Amino acid sequence: MKNYLNILFLGLGMLFPFSMSAQQAEEKLNLMPWPQKIEIKEGTFLLHKDFNLSIKGSYDDRILSYSNSFLRRLDGRTGLFFNQGIIDKNTLFSEKASLKIEIERAGKVELHEDESYTLDVSEDGIVIKAITDLGAIRALETLLQLQTYSADNYYFPFVSITDAPRFPWRGLMIDVSRHFQPVHVIKRNLDAMAAVKLNLFHWHLSDDQGFRVEIKKHPKLTEMGSDGDFYTQSQIKDVVAYAAARGIQVVPEIDVPGHASALLTAYPELGSAVRENSIERNAGIFDPTLDPTNKKTYKLLADIFKEMADLFPSPYVHIGGDENEGKDWDNNQSIQDFMVKNDLQSNHDLQTYFNIKLQKILQKNGKQMIGWEEILTPTIPTSAIIHSWRGENEGLPAKQSLVNAAKNGNQTILSNGYYIDLMYSVEDHYTVDPMPDSDLSEEEKNRILGGEATMWSELTSSKSIDSRIWPRTAAIAERFWSPKEIVSIESMYRRLDVINYQLEELGLHHISNREVVFRNLTHNQATASVKFLSDLCEPLKGYTRNKDGVEYQMYSPFTLFADACIADAQQKRVFASLVSSYVSEGNNAAALRDVLIGWKNNHEEFMKLKGNPKLKQLQPMSENLAIVAELLLNSMEATSKNEDQIKALEEAIIKLNTNELDVEVAIIDSLKELITHLKNKEYSDPKIILEEIQ
Ligand code: ACM
Repeated sequence: MKNYLNILFLGLGMLFPFSMSAQQAEEKLNLMPWPQKIEIKEGTFLLHKDFNLSIKGSYDDRILSYSNSFLRRLDGRTGLFFNQGIIDKNTLFSEKASLKIEIERAGKVELHEDESYTLDVSEDGIVIKAITDLGAIRALETLLQLQTYSADNYYFPFVSITDAPRFPWRGLMIDVSRHFQPVHVIKRNLDAMAAVKLNLFHWHLSDDQGFRVEIKKHPKLTEMGSDGDFYTQSQIKDVVAYAAARGIQVVPEIDVPGHASALLTAYPELGSAVRENSIERNAGIFDPTLDPTNKKTYKLLADIFKEMADLFPSPYVHIGGDENEGKDWDNNQSIQDFMVKNDLQSNHDLQTYFNIKLQKILQKNGKQMIGWEEILTPTIPTSAIIHSWRGENEGLPAKQSLVNAAKNGNQTILSNGYYIDLMYSVEDHYTVDPMPDSDLSEEEKNRILGGEATMWSELTSSKSIDSRIWPRTAAIAERFWSPKEIVSIESMYRRLDVINYQLEELGLHHISNREVVFRNLTHNQATASVKFLSDLCEPLKGYTRNKDGVEYQMYSPFTLFADACIADAQQKRVFASLVSSYVSEGNNAAALRDVLIGWKNNHEEFMKLKGNPKLKQLQPMSENLAIVAELLLNSMEATSKNEDQIKALEEAIIKLNTNELDVEVAIIDSLKELITHLKNKEYSDPKIILEEIQ
């Protein structure tokens, strides 16, 4: 009781006014994904050393382990180091606990499992109620995000939350074929997935560049198809268990019949062309394709899928099926004869023939097939889940295959719009909703299960991959979980900034690895001037990096300047906002000038570094930025129009963005806006100009 009185008393210094609107709440709290319903109340629950947690109901070890991890994470963040140590099944339930978790049953890690919860923080303490422990796990993540601080205390605001996901399939795909990702990298990404309530890890285990799963009956697959970088079956089981402990289902993918160079390196006799296959080192679409007319192809696949069925409890197996150009089929007479004999009119028909055989194999193993959208043909069974991925880039309407699948009777998920490897801004992903604006019936809409962020790994290593996945995937996770009305870009950015650091706290390397790259670039000299440049740049977007797929290989480590740059350059929005208010209202002239002076100063700092060949590549950008800054400062202060200066500026920004660094300078649009303003500015009244530059 004393505790609660304390809390009540100290809670009087509350931070939130009574009856805060949803929008105000969004502005204050750092929740992502945003819950379905939240009511913010007067008061705060202060955290003390005697904070403790107690669980009631029917549950298994998962929630115990998650609760222990919750306590340690809160300990770590607050430095309070609670008296409560490890809780286990012998820890008795206490009505007096600070945090009471009430669960009806242990959840199953499967689609449509109940992940709902309620979370109440009040003067009576904190109560989480959930039907399954998975709901409680999601609630614990919300609670961790709710925790905040004042100068004197760590606390939770009083809230009442009712929450449940909008979509059941909330996934992240990681391609471990192009660049292999060791188990510890996968695990830390699973931690992050759970932190933002994602529940499905799609493991892209095979492609032209590597076959990454041990198949005991066919050791040749990894002996010849993986360069020694593969997961043993015991590692797979370990990862699957690790994911399940976080309420995450693991769906494996073996990509066939195309994308099969690595598999066919081990078994060339199953290919559709006679050639010596080898593990592919470059990026692109390659010819080696399984022979769908060869019985032995199905024998091998049956063996692979049988072993995998035992490793992965998920009822789904992804068979890929994408980007099969069928060149080897066209050039193989025996395959052509087979098609005629079996009345298969096109390569599409032949691939469907192959897919249906695969579907039977999977069915025998109790599994349901999922494949990239190319598998959607008129004769594909409606039990196949269609993974929609192509869009405008491929000259197709976005989400078309999603709509087609739903109308055809197939369940479907969306990845078009969530290709995080393309290095587009988080905004681009956040504004894509899995539900198309089409005339779908309720039944058809229900077939849209959700979506997946897709992390292809041509241009990332195990060191840089976190910074390619996070924090943008947190915003995508919100799109999958939260009400569709949660669309404020400003709010998303504000919350994402906080979640970003919390993800690092959880063990991701997406922020810290940037420093590692900077130190590599400077050879352990001061990194500030290089980081400064990187905060103005973004990696090339949309597959414009790695021209023709041969500039980098699948063993390239990605330790360059571009690899320290992120998809949403930190200074881009700051500078854009400054320029926009200066241009439209004449505000912030002094702040803008300070920024420009900062660019000049940065170049001076950069030039103090002892040179090396990597810094030499960066030097023109640093120098050009200083030149642009000098010209802009002069132009802003000019009392009459100076055409030569404007022309020089226009040339300078072209130079600034012409670099060999695989990056684009992210402030170019704002610079152009500023130059246009200076160009069109009325210079007739010198007084106004004087005011403007003050
Ligand atoms: C894909 O991006 N080829 C599915």
